[in-house]
Amino acid sequence: MPHILAIESSCDETSAAVCIDGAICSNIIATQKVHEQYGGVVPELASRAHLQNIVPVVQAALKAAGCSLTQMNAIAFTQAPGLIGSLLVGAQFAKSLAQSLHIPLIAVHHMQAHVLANLIDDPKPEFPFLCLTVSGGHTQIVLSESPSNMKVIGETIDDAAGEAFDKSAKLLGLPYPGGPLIDKYAKEGNPNRFVFPEPQIPGLNFSFSGLKTSILYFLQNAGKSNLYKEEFATTEAERIEFIENNLADICASIQNRIVTILLNKLKKASIETGIKNICLAGGVSANSGLRKAFEEMGNKYKWKTFIPAFQYCTDNAGMIAITGYYKYLNEQFADLSVGSTARAEW
Ligand code: KG4
Ligand code: ZN
Repeated sequence: MPHILAIESSCDETSAAVCIDGAICSNIIATQKVHEQYGGVVPELASRAHLQNIVPVVQAALKAAGCSLTQMNAIAFTQAPGLIGSLLVGAQFAKSLAQSLHIPLIAVHHMQAHVLANLIDDPKPEFPFLCLTVSGGHTQIVLSESPSNMKVIGETIDDAAGEAFDKSAKLLGLPYPGGPLIDKYAKEGNPNRFVFPEPQIPGLNFSFSGLKTSILYFLQNAGKSNLYKEEFATTEAERIEFIENNLADICASIQNRIVTILLNKLKKASIETGIKNICLAGGVSANSGLRKAFEEMGNKYKWKTFIPAFQYCTDNAGMIAITGYYKYLNEQFADLSVGSTARAEW
């Protein structure tokens, strides 16, 4: 019965989880509030907050699982990708534990872990499956043949889907992270009231930067036109009034466009690969509009659809623990001198 302690610290969540024989027994997540006032994650502040949080978070994860450190058979940690200062805190802590406990160290790729979050709870997808991983830093379609055999078959060429949500929210004057707020206001709005362009990107890749620009122009014009910057003829007061009076419809229309961009590519990927086991992953899979449209598309095209429980969608150590478990079974251990990298291929 392998006991694995996992640590996630790639961005602004400090998290620890315990996995016993493939079951996640605890998943403690400390979200760093310090970034809200800056409208985005400040890397230096994130590293400092990880340093403060990591010991209490690990202790809480062990306590919630009813375990002690000495029962652990391996320590798993997020090696890459992420903010380098944040990664180093988790990596160094994991290495010290592995060395002092004389147990193996397991280095986990954060994006592989987001995909494998789908293997935590039942029902689990059968291999092969496709996974649309949508987070604040990534937007990928991954073809997974096994827990260790994954291939990115489509990804964003500029902004990630979560960034598209967060940057749109910032333009609307909403605090960071704005994705959940757009989701909240969109529930009351008409998704077809305003039409934003769908980028024409070949293959299975995504692009969101043009959408961001068109939203910027649209708001600067107080909804009168979203075409050319030269057309701006509105005052700041007019723009603010326009946003206030139409917030729900604007949010619903932005969300609708982001969701259609994502799902049109996912549909294309399913048709091209012939795979109908389809998963979502990443923080943006918490979006209610995406979840609903994904289930509707699944019904229409006879997919078997899977979405992890909410606590395993945003950054969390449970997904690092389940990935660590499969790596443990394959004896894929890391050397204690292993480094961390901000960017990394699988
Ligand atoms: O996976 P995650 O926790 O962190 C990264 O690895 O990036 O994803 C965070 C992203 C943020 O951009 C946040 O705005 C977005 O997920 N997000 C949402 C929702 N909940 C979180 N976006 C839209 N609707 C939501 N309900
Ligand atoms: Zn993530």
